[in-house]
Amino acid sequence: MENETKKVMLSGIKPSGDLTLGSYLGAVKNWAERADQFDCYYFMADLHAITVRQNPADLRRRTLEQLAQYIACGLDPERNTLFVQSHVHQHAELGWVLNCYTMFGELSRMTQFKDKSAKNADNINGGLFTYPSLMAADILLYQPDFVPVGEDQKQHVELCRNIVQRFNGVYGEVFKMPEPYIPKVGARIMSLTNPTSKMSKSENEDTGRVLIMDAPEVVMKQFKRAVTDSDTENCVRYDPDRKPGVANLMTIYSSVTGKTYAEIEAEFEGKGYGAFKPAVGEAVVELLRPIREESQRLIKDKAYLESVYRAGAEKAGYVAEKTLRKVYKKIGFLQR
Ligand code: TRP
Repeated sequence: MENETKKVMLSGIKPSGDLTLGSYLGAVKNWAERADQFDCYYFMADLHAITVRQNPADLRRRTLEQLAQYIACGLDPERNTLFVQSHVHQHAELGWVLNCYTMFGELSRMTQFKDKSAKNADNINGGLFTYPSLMAADILLYQPDFVPVGEDQKQHVELCRNIVQRFNGVYGEVFKMPEPYIPKVGARIMSLTNPTSKMSKSENEDTGRVLIMDAPEVVMKQFKRAVTDSDTENCVRYDPDRKPGVANLMTIYSSVTGKTYAEIEAEFEGKGYGAFKPAVGEAVVELLRPIREESQRLIKDKAYLESVYRAGAEKAGYVAEKTLRKVYKKIGFLQR
């Protein structure tokens, strides 16, 4: 079988908000380019989404829309395994097991836990705390070589690696050691209004995010009001420390057009931010147009989407079950 020679790649995104330009440039676009080289698994992380309270109808709708958007972004279901996390029950099962191999101290150190518990002070639930054990289960069920994630998830993959070491140390080579895989360009697309924090899908429009499904006028509005700098230099120059807003816009423009920072600086020499911001906006509008249209077409084809996620869950479940059996046996569960 060809899969036996291919390396395995896996990643997921929580359907807790709509996919952003950041999700596309930093993640899904790169995933789509890997289908030939790797055996790829991508899922909608709905089990993770409920660590923060979700409206049930929205969660259901977003999960399906996320699948449509994955496909519209170029993830061909014939060449990638696309599935919904909760459809593959092995995730929750291995998640529990790995909870018992994850230390309270380790979980307490996770930056995301600290951030999210500060933001959701009225709902600091156990799932928010043990999130990384479930994420480790997501990963380890498929024995991937690489886990493409954003910078903010690196700590969770590191924790997963600790779990592998601890578990394999006790039971032998059960899990393959995964590597985080962080894209160089576009790894962190920042908010347009607050360029020192990541462009977030869970927050509202005023937080400077652009959604894959945003209409062209909305995209343009967001770019026109993007913050540049407090300096009066008015010059397009790549300096992430002193000019994070401009640097972020340059990163976006560069990932969309393929131009280097030097080329971008030359293109806008003497033109200033007033010309630069709408140019980035227009490039993004054209990038997103076919994706938005294809997503809109796909979302109407419920039967097709259903067939994709069913086939995905079946394939993923088969692989996941093999790993789970092995784990249950190793830890001493009676075979059923
Ligand atoms: N925690 C990831 C995020 O918030 C989503 C995720 C869940 C994930 N399980 C995963 C990513 C497994 C990679 C591998 O973005």
